[in-house]
Amino acid sequence: MKAVLLNGYGGVDQLSYGDAPDPVPGKDQILVRVAGTSINPIDFKLRAGYLKERMPLQFPSILGRDVAGEVVSVGSGVTQFKAGDKVLGLVNNSYAELLLAAPEDLAPIPEGLPYDMAAVVPLVALTGAQLIEKGVALRGGQTVLVTGALGAVGRAAVYVAKLHGAIVIAGVRSSQLPHANLLGADRVISLDKDRDFDAVGPLDGIADTVGGTTIEKWLPKLKKGGRLGTVVGKPPSANANVDITEVWVRPDAKRLAALAEDVRLGDLVIPIGARFKLSDIREAQALAEKGGVGKVLLTP
Ligand SMILES: NC(=O)c1ccc[n+]([C@@H]2O[C@H](COP(=O)([O-])OP(=O)(O)OC[C@H]3O[C@@H](n4cnc5c(N)ncnc54)[C@H](OP(=O)(O)O)[C@@H]3O)[C@@H](O)[C@H]2O)c1
Repeated sequence: MKAVLLNGYGGVDQLSYGDAPDPVPGKDQILVRVAGTSINPIDFKLRAGYLKERMPLQFPSILGRDVAGEVVSVGSGVTQFKAGDKVLGLVNNSYAELLLAAPEDLAPIPEGLPYDMAAVVPLVALTGAQLIEKGVALRGGQTVLVTGALGAVGRAAVYVAKLHGAIVIAGVRSSQLPHANLLGADRVISLDKDRDFDAVGPLDGIADTVGGTTIEKWLPKLKKGGRLGTVVGKPPSANANVDITEVWVRPDAKRLAALAEDVRLGDLVIPIGARFKLSDIREAQALAEKGGVGKVLLTP
């Protein structure tokens, strides 16, 4: 098969498009033909070596967490799926024509949801959902600030927080304000304007997808006993008055199936900002890494 190989830690020049052995499914594995995958920030953080202590790679390595595609064959122990099924999932090694997945990591693609739209959903939708449901553990009527709300994880977090009956404040850059009204939040604010900061009252929760100086600035807005859920690491200044949960996304096929259906219905929107062939991976990752583009779809 053709695949994108990461040959070592470093810049996009460490990525090459070439031949790799076809994977062969074991007893409890599914062979999937990739119709689409997408770039997530974890891909270029892994490539650059920022996560090498926590998640060391062996080279050559095949990156990629999202998949939408068709089941080619299944191992003898797999009963949930059969050849020809259309699936999406949070997997590994998806920058390739073929990959192996565990049945519990895959969900059926809802009828009518195209592969390209499905391919950008798994990692960001599950992360947004787990950030709200496990990280902030919101109850209805509580007020939550979602930072980076126009990002892919942020959009999903806003959507899921509204599903749970929260009062949602979408925090974005000043330059993003004109685009943020369609998010469906109760209120949209600029995270960098002092006037907006002063106008926000005490918060029950913050769902953080930005980190850095942004979360340091907004953390004092949490009520005593308020909850910070984060997918970008604990802020150094957090003290014992704040309940912090770091979320690392995990596969959850049942939750993913429901989120994919929400995307099909148009209730949850994860826009595709750019499309590339896998063979143009260097250009694609360079663009995604620069930011401001939205989801970058990759197709074989
Ligand atoms: N822990 C986990 O399991 C997990 C899972 C998924 C993602 N993540 C992390 O979560 C983060 C977001 O991922 P994503 O896929 O949503 O990325 P994304 O689509 O690029 O979204 C990030 C959003 O935050 C905005 N932003 C960045 N800095 C900001 C600031 N100072 N003020 C206001 N907005 C700001 C970005 O705006 P611009 O585009 O204009 O820069 C963008 O809208 C990444 O760091 C990623 O690695 C963690």
